[in-house]
Amino acid sequence: MGSPLVVRQRSRLVAGNWKMHGSRASNRALLEALAGQLDRRSTVEVAVCPPYPYLEQVSALLAGTPIASGAQNISEHAQGAYTGEVSAAMIKEFGCRYSIVGHSERRQLFGESDAQVAAKFAAARAAGITPILCVGETLEEREAGRTEEVVERQLGTILKKIDFGNAVLAYEPVWAIGTGRNATPEQAQAVHAFLRARLSPDVRILYGGSVKASNAAAIFAMPDVDGGLIGGASLVVKEFLEIVRTAQ
Ligand code: PGA
Repeated sequence: MGSPLVVRQRSRLVAGNWKMHGSRASNRALLEALAGQLDRRSTVEVAVCPPYPYLEQVSALLAGTPIASGAQNISEHAQGAYTGEVSAAMIKEFGCRYSIVGHSERRQLFGESDAQVAAKFAAARAAGITPILCVGETLEEREAGRTEEVVERQLGTILKKIDFGNAVLAYEPVWAIGTGRNATPEQAQAVHAFLRARLSPDVRILYGGSVKASNAAAIFAMPDVDGGLIGGASLVVKEFLEIVRTAQ
């Protein structure tokens, strides 16, 4: 029996998470190369998420290109006496379309709770910013067979509070981030399908964690993987462009 024809409705997204990397000079070099070499016929949406101080420079460099920008984090508050915080409305002023919310480094290193992540998600939506919500289990949780329980709790805290809307979900197993150890395509697909069942079918679910040009094709071939959230490889022009090309 032949397999049924699958018509892909969801557009693909490849987003670069620059983390705390960059300088005015290196940002310019990276974005000029990306914009110059990106295939304009590509239907893959591309975004980059630089550190806050570079948002203005990045949005100027990206003007007239199909590449979108986003922040890596936002405050759960709209405004007020929150020293050091940046609101969703502020990043919106710099042309951001996206903000990553609940990245595992925020959860682990800065103690962000599920409830706080849910509040950030709501703050983004309220300001017209599309959240890229990150969920994922630690190695210990995976080995204890708790992967589904963990990602369901992380996503469920949001769904109890607010409609997911057009937000983007990113499954990023913590053990695969920056370790060079990516989930197998089958491991990613299993969690993506589990998450997909809890969301509207048109929500895009990205995979993140040690995605490189050499492993992207196999991961993106999975039916519930709609693109990637790319850390280290998003800082290398050739790697990032090849990942975008692979997502096509
Ligand atoms: P990595 O990071 O691609 O460097 O593993 C991914 C992420 O943290 O979003």
